[in-house]
Amino acid sequence: MIHWVVPIVLAYLLGSISFSYVVGKITRGIDIREHGSGNAGATNTLRTLGKTAAIVVAALDLSKGIASVLIAGWLSAHDPIVLMISGLAAVAGHNWPIYLGFRGGKGIATTVGVFLALMFQATLIAGVIAIIVILITRYVSLGSLIFTATLPIAIYFVGTYPKVYLWTSLLFTLFAFWRHRSNLSNLFKGVERKI
Ligand code: G3P
Repeated sequence: MIHWVVPIVLAYLLGSISFSYVVGKITRGIDIREHGSGNAGATNTLRTLGKTAAIVVAALDLSKGIASVLIAGWLSAHDPIVLMISGLAAVAGHNWPIYLGFRGGKGIATTVGVFLALMFQATLIAGVIAIIVILITRYVSLGSLIFTATLPIAIYFVGTYPKVYLWTSLLFTLFAFWRHRSNLSNLFKGVERKI
């Protein structure tokens, strides 16, 4: 049991480190969650603190995802279900951080990190589609949703991953859609923020 409890708890604690909050505090003394969309993530960092801060936050949030599955792999002898649930725990930590009153971000950069580490080819396919959508529409939220919705399809078509990766990837999609409820509503109303 220890082989799956420890990596999952560690992933949640690691995911809970909110780098957009840290960077906001260090560079401008602000709580990123009180600005822009109110989201503790790289997109809102871009809006509020600029390009360099956003790149740093995106890279660190992505690294949390990679580190969580690397640690889980090491502790669980690469059990695929432990890897995926640890990745999901890292995203849950990012979204509902224990250190910040459970008010965090939407988990996309961390999801990218998890999938890059475990399913590079499928992530590349979903990532390219998402980037094209963002470049055309200027809606990061739409690109994020399309990214997570495309992941399970890309995993299916690549076809070389453990079966459990496919169904657990749907949980990441579910998390992303749940956290983007306000973005979805804004998109439908035509009032979503562009970049
Ligand atoms: O990854 C978050 C992005 O999809 C939306 O962020 O700040 O526009 O709600 P935001």
